Amino acid sequence: MTTDKITLHRGLSGVYFDRTETTFIDGKEGKLLYRGYNIHDLAGVASFEETSYLLMYGELPTQSQLDEFDGVLKANRNIPSEIVDIITLVKNDHPMSVLRTAVSALSAFDPEAEDNSPEATLRKGIRLTSQVPTIVMAHHNIRNGRAPIAPSENLSHAANFLYMMEGEEPTAGTAALMDTDFVLHADHGSNASAFTARAVASTNAHLHDAITAGIGALSGPSHGGAAENVMTMALDIGEAENAEQYVKDLLAGGDRVMGFGHRVYRAEDPRARHLREGVRKLSEEKGEPKWYGILEAVQKAMAPYGRRGIHVNVDFFAGVIYYLNGIPHDLFVPIFAVGRIPGWTVQVIEQFEHNILLRPLLQYAGPEERKYVPVSER
Ligand code: CMC
Repeated sequence: MTTDKITLHRGLSGVYFDRTETTFIDGKEGKLLYRGYNIHDLAGVASFEETSYLLMYGELPTQSQLDEFDGVLKANRNIPSEIVDIITLVKNDHPMSVLRTAVSALSAFDPEAEDNSPEATLRKGIRLTSQVPTIVMAHHNIRNGRAPIAPSENLSHAANFLYMMEGEEPTAGTAALMDTDFVLHADHGSNASAFTARAVASTNAHLHDAITAGIGALSGPSHGGAAENVMTMALDIGEAENAEQYVKDLLAGGDRVMGFGHRVYRAEDPRARHLREGVRKLSEEKGEPKWYGILEAVQKAMAPYGRRGIHVNVDFFAGVIYYLNGIPHDLFVPIFAVGRIPGWTVQVIEQFEHNILLRPLLQYAGPEERKYVPVSER
C-alpha cells in the first residue's frame, strides 16, 4: 500500500492526455486557433455557421458548402413535442438542468442515437447544434406561462436564438454580437466539459450521453457559470466608483473575482477582446454606459493580479452583453452551451477516432488494510 513515489498531477494541470487537430491554445501568448485560423481573424467576420463547419469538417466551407450546411442547420431546429412535455414537467429547475434533461431525452428520438460512426456522430452533432437553442428558448417561454415560439426557417443561428425569446427579430447589430459570442465559445480544447464529454465517449457511450455529461460539467461557476456571477457582481457594485472597494473586500474575504483567471491562459484570454468592444458599443447604444464603466473599474482594481497571470477571461464581458439584450441571468450558461455543441461534437469524434478508455489513477490515502468486524461486534 505504499504509494509514496507517485507524482500527483492534481486537477490534471499541465497533463497532455491525447492529440487534437481542432483547437490550439497558447496560454502564455494568449493565442487561440480553430483548425489553424486565429480567433482574431474569425470573430466578427466568420459566422457561427461558417465556424461550426470549419470545426466539424476541418476546412472553411465554399459558399455552396456553407449554404447547404446552413440549410441542414435550419431544417433541424424543431424539437419533438415529447421534449416540450418533458421541459414543461421540469420547468422549475435551473435552465442548465432543464437543458441537460432535454438533451438526454433527445436520444430517444434521434434515429441514429446508438450509431457511433464518425458520419452519424457528426450528423447528430449538427442536429443538436440546431435543437439546443430551441430547447433553451422553449423552456424560457414555458416557465413564463407562454407557448414556445417556433424557430424561424430563415434567420441565422444567432438571430433565430434571440427571435425565439420573445418572437421579435433582433437588429442586425444585436444578432451580429450574439453570433460573435457563439463563435468565441465554439471550442476550447480540453476544458472540463470537453474532457468530461471525452471521458464518456471513451467508454464507447454515444454522443447524447457525452454531451449530456458535458452540460453538467459546464454548469459549475468555475467553468460556464462565471458569466452569470459577473453580472450579479456588476449589479451589486452598482456604480463604477464602488468597484475598487468591492473588489478589495471580495479578495480580503478569500473570494474570487468572477470572470478573472484561467487554468491555461497566463495572458489575457484572447476571446475577451472581442466581447469587451461589444460591451462598450452596446452599453452606449442602449444608453447605459455605466455597465462598461463598472467592468472597466473592476479590471483596474484587478490590474495588480496581472503580474500573477490573472487576467479577464471570456466570461467577464459576456454577462453584460446578455443582460443589455434583456436575457435573464440564468440563461447565460445555457448560451455558452448553445455555442459549444460543435466543439463537444468534434472532440467526441476525435475521441472515437483513436479511442482509448480514459482511466487515470488515484493515489490511495485511506486506512491500511484492516479486518472486517461484523456489525453485532461493533
Ligand atoms: N480571483 C482572485 N484570485 C484568483 C482568481 C480570481 N478569479 N483565479 C485564480 N485566483 C488565484 C487563486 O486564489 C490562487 O491563489 P493562491 O495561489 O494564492 O491560492 C491562484 O490564483 C491560482 O488559482 P487556482 O484555482 O489554482 O487556479 P486554476 O487554474 O485552478 O483556476 C479558475 C482557474 C478559472 C477556476 C479560476 O481562475 C477561477 O475560479 N476564476 C473565476 C471563475 C471564472 O471566471 N471562470 C471562467 C473561466 S473561463 C470560461 C471557461 O472556459 O470555462
